[in-house]
Amino acid sequence: MNLNAIDRYAKSLIKEAGHKIRVSFFNTIDIDSKADANDLVTNIDKEIERFVVDRVKQDFPEHKIVSEEGFGDKITSLDGTVWFLDPIDGTMNFIHQRRNFAISLGIYVDGVGMLGYIYDVMGDDLYHAAKGEGAYFNDERLPQLEITPLEEALIGINASWVAPNTKVDNDKIIQLVTRCRGTRSYGSAAIELAYVSSGRIDAYISMRLAPWDIAGGIVIAQEVGAVATSLQGEAPHLLGTDTFIVTRPGLHEEILSKYIRLK
Ligand code: IPD
Ligand code: CA
Ligand code: CA
Repeated sequence: MNLNAIDRYAKSLIKEAGHKIRVSFFNTIDIDSKADANDLVTNIDKEIERFVVDRVKQDFPEHKIVSEEGFGDKITSLDGTVWFLDPIDGTMNFIHQRRNFAISLGIYVDGVGMLGYIYDVMGDDLYHAAKGEGAYFNDERLPQLEITPLEEALIGINASWVAPNTKVDNDKIIQLVTRCRGTRSYGSAAIELAYVSSGRIDAYISMRLAPWDIAGGIVIAQEVGAVATSLQGEAPHLLGTDTFIVTRPGLHEEILSKYIRLK
């Protein structure tokens, strides 16, 4: 398989999809809810997913594509070449802010992440990586991440985990957010992964993410030496939803062992 050719193809497809999203703001956007009133989807999420899925199926009929809105394939194993697509990661930002959302794409071969892309659509910034070849922010190579002590770290975490909740011991989370330098929440897992990879934040923690949220970002994060696992410390698995943490080296073990206690 010619991964360089697929890389060029994927970049051009993502840019084309991003252009379509920017143009969509000239028209009225239809908003719907899914699992609950705050789980939003728009006609643009669906249109973009359909556009990318149709192209990939037409040009790579032997590949599988797994995507959020259901136009892709259902898979039960990671054998072969699998594309993981989130057409808009950060739909709430897309609707409310018209910025801070991304197209997220990861291409895996037999379960190994080979190519990863996070396209910040309104910033026109593409974070991308190919396994073993480093990670890039547009044309700029991203440096290897260095160790940062927790006291100097910015942690990406949603404020709701500081309040009592059913997923995690919030007293520990209070200790974590008190001890670190500061917290941030961008509302797009893909952008938060891109920010860890480019050193803009030092860790990102989530209680529930799907394969399309993280597949592309994991490839990028691993190229700069970030550590990504579930909150149980296991390698992220891409066949279902799970908890997730990605950090610069050094922080991962400390956060997991001292500050995370899942219920
Ligand atoms: C969501 C965003 C959000 C994260 C959610 C995801 P969506 O993706 O990444 O930041 O907290 O868990 O579902 O629905 O906007 O594609
Ligand atoms: Ca998502
Ligand atoms: Ca989405």
